[in-house]
Amino acid sequence: MKIGVIGCGNISSIYLENLTKRFENTEVVAISDLIHEKALEKAEKFGISRIMTLEEMLNSREIEAILNITTPKAHYEINKKALLSGKHVYCEKPLCITDEEARAVMDIAAKSNLTVGSAPDTILGAGIQTCKEILDAEEIGQIIGAVGFMTCPGHESWHPDPEFYYQKGGGPLLDMGPYYLTAMTYLIGSITAVNGIGTMPQKTRKIHSGPKAGKEFNVEVLTHINSIFEFENGATGNIIMSFDTWYTHLPYIEIYGSKGTLTVPDPNSFGGPVLIRKAGSSIWKEIPLNLPYSDNSRGLGLSEMVEAIEADREPIASGKRALHVLEVMNAIIDSANRARDGEISSRA
Ligand SMILES: NC(=O)c1ccc[n+]([C@@H]2O[C@H](COP(=O)([O-])OP(=O)(O)OC[C@H]3O[C@@H](n4cnc5c(N)ncnc54)[C@H](O)[C@@H]3O)[C@@H](O)[C@H]2O)c1
Repeated sequence: MKIGVIGCGNISSIYLENLTKRFENTEVVAISDLIHEKALEKAEKFGISRIMTLEEMLNSREIEAILNITTPKAHYEINKKALLSGKHVYCEKPLCITDEEARAVMDIAAKSNLTVGSAPDTILGAGIQTCKEILDAEEIGQIIGAVGFMTCPGHESWHPDPEFYYQKGGGPLLDMGPYYLTAMTYLIGSITAVNGIGTMPQKTRKIHSGPKAGKEFNVEVLTHINSIFEFENGATGNIIMSFDTWYTHLPYIEIYGSKGTLTVPDPNSFGGPVLIRKAGSSIWKEIPLNLPYSDNSRGLGLSEMVEAIEADREPIASGKRALHVLEVMNAIIDSANRARDGEISSRA
């Protein structure tokens, strides 16, 4: 399928590398960025012959699908315009910022018989696919609960343009939560109710790398968020998503079953390790990954979406799944911003 790529920033290199050299069903015919020099640099590096404006891309009869890898604030408008121009869309996470935007995008797609896919596509990697096989075979029995932890001091330590991570649409939950919640909902099922609590300990942050190093910027979002939630099948979940944590011993994701525990690998990666410890066993057993895509396979979700379109089925990294995860994340943030249930009047 002929693809137009919009957004030539940090993450674009691995997408362009894989889409131009690795996946046979995707052909990048043009790229676009608000900053022409960025598009030029990637066009030269990956041998893409055409640089287009967004309008040119939308008007192109040749381009059948848009890969939207711009920053979150731009996702909705570009997704909507691309669908209204008759093109399928695959978007980086989050699909949009508000639930209403995501629903509007999915409605346009449904009315136009077009497909929407969304990151993360790490659920298609060898690590999480192996976990899926283990759970489907009921090796840890009935799922009782799951936990997920993403703790780091913040992306400004390495990203040269980190402001968007701290604006509306950013924060550790909207940025990293999609990896964790997409993996959890893919492996366990839909989430039906959430509670959240969060804090914003640093009101300003500083850029550490690139031409803007030393620049201070304001933080607009909660940066240390805790949530408890319930899955449709009755299992419970807990997550902590933090841009305010230096070090931790916590796992990425663990799933607790009636017959044992499964350790899910970093959901922001495609590989392992996958570990299982059955009830009564004294050891964790590492499960070999015998499935493809254990290295950085970004773009796999778009390639799988192209396969899904051809087979007239829903993609695995689907817009529908991304909308569900977005609704969960926004409900956690709303809950964290509301007055508390169960307030305590006494003080220690
Ligand atoms: N950087 C990472 O490691 C990483 C990893 C996984 C996912 N992502 C996701 O990928 C997306 C992009 O992240 P990034 O790190 O590459 O950001 P970035 O800021 O480095 O790049 C974004 C690019 O999009 C361009 N852009 C913004 N609005 C545009 C518009 N309206 N039209 C055309 N171009 C526009 C910008 O000029 C910029 O070049 C985000 O959704 C992010 O969550 C990033």
